[in-house]
Amino acid sequence: MGGKMSKQKLGYSCSACNGFFSKWSGICPKCQEWNTLQEDVFIPKETARFESVRPDKVNKPELIHEIKAVESQRVKTNIANVDRLMGGGVVEGSLILIGGDPGIGKSTLMLQLAETYSMQGKTVLYISGEESKEQAALRSKRLEIRTDKIYLLSETLFSEIKKAVDLIKPDLLIIDSVQIVYKGELPSLPGSVTQVKEIAMEAMHLAKGANITTFLIGHVTKSGELAGPRVLEHIVDTVLDFEGDRNHGYRILRSTKNRFGPTDEIALFQMGAKGLKEVLNPSEAFLKERLKDVAGSVIVPTMEGSSAFLVEVQALVAPTNFSTSSRKSTGLDQNRLCLLLAVLEKRVGYAFQSVDVFVSVAGGMKIVEPAADLAILLAIASSFSKRPINAETIVIGEVGLTGEIRSVSRIESRLKEAIHMGFRYAVIPKKNLSGLPESITKQLTLFGVELVEEAIGQLLSRKGANTTMAPKKEEISCG
Ligand code: TYD
Ligand code: MG
Repeated sequence: MGGKMSKQKLGYSCSACNGFFSKWSGICPKCQEWNTLQEDVFIPKETARFESVRPDKVNKPELIHEIKAVESQRVKTNIANVDRLMGGGVVEGSLILIGGDPGIGKSTLMLQLAETYSMQGKTVLYISGEESKEQAALRSKRLEIRTDKIYLLSETLFSEIKKAVDLIKPDLLIIDSVQIVYKGELPSLPGSVTQVKEIAMEAMHLAKGANITTFLIGHVTKSGELAGPRVLEHIVDTVLDFEGDRNHGYRILRSTKNRFGPTDEIALFQMGAKGLKEVLNPSEAFLKERLKDVAGSVIVPTMEGSSAFLVEVQALVAPTNFSTSSRKSTGLDQNRLCLLLAVLEKRVGYAFQSVDVFVSVAGGMKIVEPAADLAILLAIASSFSKRPINAETIVIGEVGLTGEIRSVSRIESRLKEAIHMGFRYAVIPKKNLSGLPESITKQLTLFGVELVEEAIGQLLSRKGANTTMAPKKEEISCG
């Protein structure tokens, strides 16, 4: 060991680009990211050896057509959302990373997943590095988890975890969390880039070598400071992000990488007193608290992976009390909001100088796709003019800088979801009108629009625009 140690260099590695430097600095000299360098140890390649590698088989190159490609075995979790997300069940012996902010519900989800394995007679080993076994057991009691075949180990030293794995030979291994588990022979701290990567590599050899499906739980902080998912993405088969607004009950599980299935699919959950519950109809959940026929509310079908669901965009335009007006958005890009306001001012002549504009997506959802532009714009116009938009209407379209409405992808899926939820009218980009099947055109009255002002003319009358919000010569801050 001593000989090996002497080759190791102490220094700092970057959690973003994985570069290694002998001196610390606030900005990474390689990738220019801020605050990503942390104390670490550099291990030259030839000394990096993994405990679980057993060189008992000789490995040689083979011709592709001679390789027997067997479909991987999958285990259905019976959490419908999770099975769909993983591509039809969890592949046996795969390594999955689940990342998310502390407190979002990762441990809860894993415990519920462990239950579904246990119910199928499979053995589960849950490594609880962050909580004592009493704490973890208490949680499982509270969640009323049936724990027949779930073993719990509160341990952070990897060699001990390895012993437990050899003893119990689980079908499912959960490591909670990858940041707290460490290898004693490395001088760097748990959670450092080197430790986290080594643990992940070991987990990979366990998963592949012994065919143990392994979940690694990883924390990410907003600034990505911890050596978390970012450095592990290459190593694991699947990356799941668990996100959501802590103030809202909804949690979104998203696959951002998947060697065995689709990516960018999402599964929606709701956190309740008995843990996470699947939300099988997101549209219904997101529209549940909607008030109909109020100004400033517009429904848009948005795509997440292959599924469309309806969300409500809300806008509030109110006279400002300060010398600078403000624009705030929740769940939407602030720059996009500013751009849409500018388009409205330029094309329709609305004056936003002396008003505050707030826009948000109800239910704590985030919308990033430009297909929601027109809905946002109309929500603002609706609040500004104090005229509600028909409650049975959905709005789709990307808005260009010259006020043109651009076509969007997956129009059929979006419209089908609107029909499914009982909507009767749809304002969509004119270019998206052609080629729609009868099953859609028969059930929805479609309005194709080319310009922003057409859409406004279609849904709102400009006469209603409130004249008390007349322009004043004042500064505007956008941000
Ligand atoms: P947890 O799974 O511990 O989050 P993570 O492992 O991602 O840090 O759960 C976090 C929060 O969820 C915690 O603040 C309490 C809440 N919670 C519930 O609301 N209901 C429940 O049944 C459980 C277990 C937790
Ligand atoms: Mg936890």
